[in-house]
Amino acid sequence: MWNRFKETNSASRAFLVAGMIWFVLGTLYGLVCAIHLMAPEFFNNIGPMVFGRTRPSHVNTSLLGFVATTLIGCALYYVPALLRTRLWSEPLGWCSWLFWNVTILSGPLTFSFGISQGREYAEYIWIFDVSVMLALLTLIVNMVMTVAQRVENTLYVSVWYAMGAAVWTSLVYPIGNVMWHPSTGAMPGLIDSIFLWFYGHNVVGLLLTPLAIGAAYFVLPRVTKTPLYSHTLSLVGFWTLVALYTHIGGHHILQAPIPNWLKMISVVDSMAMVIPVATVLVNLWMTVRGRSVALWANPAGRFVLAGTIWYLITCVQGPFQSLPVVQRITHFNNWTVGHAHIAVFGFSGFIALGALWHILPLVSGRRVYSDRLVNLQFGLVSFGLIGFFFVLTIAGLIQGSAWLNGETVYKVLPQIAVYMAVRATLGLFIITGALIGLYNVVLTLWRGEPIVRVADGEVRNS
Ligand code: HEM
Ligand code: HEM
Repeated sequence: MWNRFKETNSASRAFLVAGMIWFVLGTLYGLVCAIHLMAPEFFNNIGPMVFGRTRPSHVNTSLLGFVATTLIGCALYYVPALLRTRLWSEPLGWCSWLFWNVTILSGPLTFSFGISQGREYAEYIWIFDVSVMLALLTLIVNMVMTVAQRVENTLYVSVWYAMGAAVWTSLVYPIGNVMWHPSTGAMPGLIDSIFLWFYGHNVVGLLLTPLAIGAAYFVLPRVTKTPLYSHTLSLVGFWTLVALYTHIGGHHILQAPIPNWLKMISVVDSMAMVIPVATVLVNLWMTVRGRSVALWANPAGRFVLAGTIWYLITCVQGPFQSLPVVQRITHFNNWTVGHAHIAVFGFSGFIALGALWHILPLVSGRRVYSDRLVNLQFGLVSFGLIGFFFVLTIAGLIQGSAWLNGETVYKVLPQIAVYMAVRATLGLFIITGALIGLYNVVLTLWRGEPIVRVADGEVRNS
């Protein structure tokens, strides 16, 4: 039994499987939320099913459970692989897995009964914040020690991003969750919103973004069998990300009476975010140029490529909606929910899925059970997400322009009812994609065709 925890890549595998389980659970919660917004009386008076409790379960289980867990699983494979060594300690990797997943599981279990810190993206109660911190610290120790024992001298950019994500988040998380106030996890008054959005933006900017970019930098050159276009560009992208992303959280609370200088910095540097984004995308797309057909034909490569396209759309929309004049229409309504889905799911979630399908054979020694199911999953989730983007953006514009004209909130609801119904229906496509993904992962591990490794780490049929 103990030997199983020492098996090479076992911790990575465990993270990948957990990520797919959270994908299913997270999207099921999303559907419950969507049904509520379509027909509020549907789950009436069932405490654990009320919107205020299912929404945090959906958001945390999808964002930290599905996306981050899957991407951490990928990092636990590619960090040692790129350094031509093994993970320093598989059992320590399992400890990270336990601490991390206990927290994710705690979400639905506590939120359903109203036990929550009540701050968006920072709902986990203090004891589970401690568990997240233990997960991050054990991950950092494992990665640092893996770097220390490396055979390969060059630290490829994916290693930078994976370590950056763990180190930055270990700093951002306790601050944003105000961990020195265990009873509330909050600061008194308005200042709390500054702390919260410092964290809220960085959990996507300094956890999901670097993990997703690190995975894309690993997968794309391998699928197309081309070297990275520019190591220098990759470093520019890395350092400008941390220089700019860290202090733009204020763009979430431009309508609140926070200091003007903070709003100014948030808006100006939101615009400047085009630098890290363009640097990364140019570097990745130049790496795969001329090979897009081959890339698209590869099920994993297709997911990652689509993720980079979503990244572009997200990061054109992001700076635009950071402008106060735009937010007069887009803030507080479904426009932002549309942005959140194309960002967290389209960008980081698609890259997580692509990296999973690329890395699963490498950590399991088995071919993906069915490439056709991966392609089917791609079709289903793409259809669902493109649909989400359109209906939520339109619903947001209807709400925002009506409010600007002085209309009361409840009077606009009938106008967006149809969009809420379409969104719930589209959710079924995404849930089906999540279920197919879990099925395909389980069958790969259980019945996938074995592959043999050859010296350079490539795999071929046995
Ligand atoms: C160039 C980069 C980006 C900029 C400038 C940007 C800007 C913004 C702004 C201004 C908002 C708030 C809108 C409002 O409340 O009116 C927002 C919301 C959000 N963004 Fe981005 N974004 C960027 C990239 C990303 C990325 C890469 C992700 C995910 C990986 C992401 C995830 C989110 C999420 C989840 C929200 C919703 C927050 C909430 O619950 O209110 N964004 N973004
Ligand atoms: C079955 C598919 C899904 C459905 C039906 C769904 C539905 C919803 C609903 C109804 C909300 C609440 C919106 C509101 O407060 O007005 C929401 C929020 C959110 N969902 Fe999903 N979702 C789905 C999949 C996903 C996935 C796969 C992810 C990420 C990987 C995700 C990430 C988020 C985020 C970050 C928010 C917060 C948005 C914000 O506050 O702006 N969702 N979702």
